[in-house]
Amino acid sequence: MNVPAIATRGLTKRFPGGQVAVDGVDLTVPGGSVYGFLGPNGSGKTTTIRMLLGLITPTAGTSTLFGDPARAALTRVGALVEGPAFYPWLSGAANLLRLDAANPAADPASARRRAAEALDRVGLTAAAGKRYKAYSLGMRQRLAIASTLLSRRDLLVLDEPTNGLDPQGTREVRNLIKDIAADGTTVFVSSHLLAEVEQMCTHIGVMRAGRLVAQSPTADLGSGAPARVEVETADVTAAARVLTDLGLRDVRQTPGRAGAEIGRTAPEHVSDLLFKAGVPIRGFQVIRPSLEDVFVGLTGEGFDVGS
Ligand SMILES: Nc1ncnc2c1ncn2[C@@H]1O[C@H](COP(=O)(O)OP(=O)(O)O)[C@@H](O)[C@H]1O
Ligand SMILES: [Mg+2]
Repeated sequence: MNVPAIATRGLTKRFPGGQVAVDGVDLTVPGGSVYGFLGPNGSGKTTTIRMLLGLITPTAGTSTLFGDPARAALTRVGALVEGPAFYPWLSGAANLLRLDAANPAADPASARRRAAEALDRVGLTAAAGKRYKAYSLGMRQRLAIASTLLSRRDLLVLDEPTNGLDPQGTREVRNLIKDIAADGTTVFVSSHLLAEVEQMCTHIGVMRAGRLVAQSPTADLGSGAPARVEVETADVTAAARVLTDLGLRDVRQTPGRAGAEIGRTAPEHVSDLLFKAGVPIRGFQVIRPSLEDVFVGLTGEGFDVGS
């Protein structure tokens, strides 16, 4: 049996006097996956993550990490919810040693080795002795991730790790997450940016107003939406009639174009019938919606907008 890295059932959080921030969320995060937890700002991602980690108590519902309550599994989990505070005048290495010393479970004798390994893992070995304040944004975020890697983790939970980073820093963090996942660590990463999640995640869950509105392997999400056939023609009426007679759904006519959901019908069959019906075909396309279209439909708003 494969125990999911994260499983929640009916997870709910109502803040005192407020609305429901998280509403009956059933998450299943398979072990070994890179799970993108996607949703617009205010959709309940951080609140969910805080409950997963046992930082706040759910109003209702349950949550387990590797089949255990959060408390029992925390030594296997590294988390970055709000970046840890780093001292600007200390080097990256010195900052990690300070954090490591604050962990009562860590053996002080091997602290230097742990810090060195974590820095190596995020590609900061060459900058280990450099002061934090001289780090680029990408280096700062990599150091934050290094702080979660001071001991061996089976699961890494990262809340919007690329927030505020420039494209270079974003690329650095994205590649680092891929490397960490390649080592067998499950990664649960939240984001309000679709493009980012699409590029690095094997699974995607979508939040909208506190509810999980979709959850599936990334590859299945895009193909779930209906593909459409679009015919460019001077005789839109005749083209639309052929599409309707074929039994295709959602037939639409616009100036110069007729289109419909193609369903399981072979495109060759459609073009053949159009030709036989004497429809003058200027253009013929099958359009498969992008993941972006799917998400706009699910969340009621665009991603990557105004961020
Ligand atoms: N401590 C809190 N008290 C009251 N409301 C909160 C608190 N934290 C978050 N919220 C509200 O819960 C909703 C979800 O917030 P959050 O989980 O931070 O969303 P996200 O991380 O997706 O941006 C928002 O409406 C937010 O204002
Ligand atoms: Mg948040």
